[in-house]
Amino acid sequence: MNKPQNPISPDHNCQLCPRLAVFRDQNRTKFPDKFNAPVPSFGSLDAELLVVGLAPGLKGANFSGRPFTGDFAGELLYGTLLKYGFAKGEFKAHPDDGLELINCRITNAVRCVPPENKPIGSEINTCATFLKNQIAVMPNLKLIVSLGLVSHNTVLKTHNEKLSAFKFVHKEEHKLNNGLTLIDSYHCSKYNTSTKRLTEPMFHEVFELAKEKL
Ligand code: URA
Repeated sequence: MNKPQNPISPDHNCQLCPRLAVFRDQNRTKFPDKFNAPVPSFGSLDAELLVVGLAPGLKGANFSGRPFTGDFAGELLYGTLLKYGFAKGEFKAHPDDGLELINCRITNAVRCVPPENKPIGSEINTCATFLKNQIAVMPNLKLIVSLGLVSHNTVLKTHNEKLSAFKFVHKEEHKLNNGLTLIDSYHCSKYNTSTKRLTEPMFHEVFELAKEKL
């Protein structure tokens, strides 16, 4: 009999999303020495802050096994967390760099790398169960920072909130029904930073606000 999955973290060989499982197998063949599995969250469950990204990048978090590690987006994210005291050490884009998160945990709305970096609706909904369960076992959680619209909508769904009642606006705060605060941020992706939709100061402001709230 198969062992049931850990409720907050999909199995290494999770089969819940067929398309993602096929893509994982292909990547295991192509890149046999890389992580190629659902990427676990990083940081303590006791944290007051949860940062929710979209999904691992193929050659970033999917290769390294730590969220945003090896991805372009991680440079800005970890640099910002270090600046605002949510991390200590040095970020060297490698899971063995010794970087520690302080009062902060990082996860992804979808734990497996999706083809073309785009998870489909059913994958987002399936993986949201792990996010929901994770939020439920974070006893000190006060604040969620959602990176991008998919993360924002997924966090709302895990709270059974009406999406139309909470418009995604950069740096906007939303009060959720269980007392948690959600702050939106444009995703710190290469695309958003190179088009200047998101600048470094704009991203810093989000975490400055988070720091004020805690
Ligand atoms: N890497 C991640 O782990 N998550 C993202 O959302 C982007 C890159």
